[in-house]
Amino acid sequence: MGTREATGTQSRTERADFQATADPALIEAADRTADIKLLTSEELYMLWERQQWQTQELDFTKDREDWHERISEEERFQRMYGLSSFFIGEQKVAEELGPIMRAAPTEDQRIFLCTQIADEARHVRFFERFYREVGVLEADGLTEMLEETSAHLNDNFSRLFDEMLKQRTDRLSTEPEDTEALVEAITLYHMVIEGMLALTGQHFIMDYNEREGTLPAFVEGFQNVARDEHRHVAFGSVFLRDKAREDERYKKAIQRTLEESLPVADGVLSPPWAKDVDADFELFGYSLEDTRKFAGTCLMRRLKVIGLQV
Ligand SMILES: [Fe+2]
Ligand SMILES: [Fe+2]
Repeated sequence: MGTREATGTQSRTERADFQATADPALIEAADRTADIKLLTSEELYMLWERQQWQTQELDFTKDREDWHERISEEERFQRMYGLSSFFIGEQKVAEELGPIMRAAPTEDQRIFLCTQIADEARHVRFFERFYREVGVLEADGLTEMLEETSAHLNDNFSRLFDEMLKQRTDRLSTEPEDTEALVEAITLYHMVIEGMLALTGQHFIMDYNEREGTLPAFVEGFQNVARDEHRHVAFGSVFLRDKAREDERYKKAIQRTLEESLPVADGVLSPPWAKDVDADFELFGYSLEDTRKFAGTCLMRRLKVIGLQV
């Protein structure tokens, strides 16, 4: 990773509100030791109460100006892949979390996951407000917006969400006591989708806008979204660490799910139009290698803390 990117990583990951989540990816010591103190579901709930925010407080006036007057048509099109993946991704995770919440074995875990459902709903409304206030699309209603923006996604995205994740949550809907399916679902949801994809995308999108001085209200809201995601991934890490310690079977379920989903997740990092350009294309000043490296470091730190060989 270049110096410019490393600086951005450092200043953001050192924020006190991010650090408060104890997501292992934010803790440098996780490169060396698995002995990292994680928060319990109850402590994460208390943190959620202290980390509230409102989408309606954001003022998108400058963002609207930037989008229409400072950002070229070609760049607007390129930005649509990331924006659409987030918007639709938030809607899908909000709606798939119910069966996972119901299947969680303890009351403390279920109550924390209820707060996460509320967070994901807020993330959907954040994107809806950004799209509407800035005038990103013609469509006005939430359903129509989601439909119009879905044209920008790639095939790996639907494989990951509509096949791999949905298969597990459907299973949990009918068999909530299937703990192995729950471990698989949380590996896919919290480790791969939120931990690897969402937080990596957020990091690079915020970094680029900060450098360019564009979309300030979007960046402000997106930082709140990222803080929420760190809290969610912190929950996933402690859940999977406890399960991996409990039974070798669960450890294998985590490994199996990662092996199956990582190649698909890697495919989500590339926009559909990237196939037509050079293999080592750059998106907003970063290569695919930069994004892979960032996602890889975060995953390795979390897996080490969970107790998996990396
Ligand atoms: Fe989210
Ligand atoms: Fe989340």
